[in-house]
Amino acid sequence: MILSVDLGARSYDVVIQRGCLSRAGELLNLNRKVLVVTDSGVPAQYAKTVAAQAKEAYTVTFPQGEAGKTVDTWMSLLDALVEHNFTRSDCVVAVGGGVVGDMSGFAAAAYLRGIDFYNIPTTLLSQIDSSVGGKVGVDYKGYKNLVGAFHQPKKVLVDPDVLHTLDLRQVRSGAAEAVKVALTGDKELFELFESGKAMAQIETVIYRALAVKAEVVRQDETEGGLRRVLNFGHTVGHAIETVSNFSLLHGECVALGMLPMVSDEVRVRLLSVLRALELPTQYKGDTEAILEAMSHDKKCAGGEITVVTCPQVGSFEFRKIPFQQLANELREVLK
Ligand SMILES: NC(=O)c1ccc[n+]([C@@H]2O[C@H](COP(=O)([O-])OP(=O)(O)OC[C@H]3O[C@@H](n4cnc5c(N)ncnc54)[C@H](O)[C@@H]3O)[C@@H](O)[C@H]2O)c1
Repeated sequence: MILSVDLGARSYDVVIQRGCLSRAGELLNLNRKVLVVTDSGVPAQYAKTVAAQAKEAYTVTFPQGEAGKTVDTWMSLLDALVEHNFTRSDCVVAVGGGVVGDMSGFAAAAYLRGIDFYNIPTTLLSQIDSSVGGKVGVDYKGYKNLVGAFHQPKKVLVDPDVLHTLDLRQVRSGAAEAVKVALTGDKELFELFESGKAMAQIETVIYRALAVKAEVVRQDETEGGLRRVLNFGHTVGHAIETVSNFSLLHGECVALGMLPMVSDEVRVRLLSVLRALELPTQYKGDTEAILEAMSHDKKCAGGEITVVTCPQVGSFEFRKIPFQQLANELREVLK
């Protein structure tokens, strides 16, 4: 399957195909210097397979995990580009999850004011979401993605076969992002999750989830308005992520974060989908600490907070609601 992301001069294709990792040399222009970036948790064979298909490859592997998504790691990528005399006609290839993709995309965006970037995402979250849309960056001073840029990839290769080595909890966490876009933008995809057959049709799930995201990004590439719909579930989700000290995975927090943002009728259906995916539906930690974290959110001002809600499956609304109302809802729904 091929999905086209239509952004005028910055348009690109996403190739979704089992085994495409080993066809990288054919599908991408690797007939030049290539910086292959990966992390220590991604099976090394994936980066090796890509590097072996390039004319002149250099591989950088940094320690896995969000803790490594720093300016220092990003600078080590720039160092490698300088050391090996990369020019404007060379490129960077990310082989890893969202951390690798965001950081190597940002190195490609900054080096010589922008060189070609290819993304080969290897987690379900990155295949469904982060590899498309051009948001790249690093965490800084304890704030997630504080420093970054918009830099679209030249092509994205999604090989569902690499998910075989991914921890099941990570797979489920990624699926939460697909449920997120389904709820707000693709009723049929949500119904596929309800049928219990979604995970057996993972290519379809990836394609449909990316299609929703690609259309949103086409209409609002730099998040002037509509793109905020992709933050559905994230206002509460990010607060849970912070308060739980990252003991819960991103998608698990998004799963919880969606629950207070849907109508009662949608919640019944969402709960059943989340349970079937073995994603959390209750939060046993300190709910008041979540509310405290949310009160510092930039979307919260004058006692009101702007959120994305889902009144019906396949639709969304931007709403400004009193913070107290959300607080009550959250206490009730997550208990
Ligand atoms: N740019 C965007 O639009 C966007 C959107 C959503 C999330 N993000 C970012 O994505 C990041 C999270 O991404 P993630 O969930 O992919 O986490 P991640 O990149 O940390 O990967 C999770 C873990 O899985 C390991 N791994 C990766 N692929 C594997 C494979 N095939 N087999 C075995 N292990 C593998 C990694 O080494 C890591 O330990 C966050 O930093 C978040 O900010 C970015």
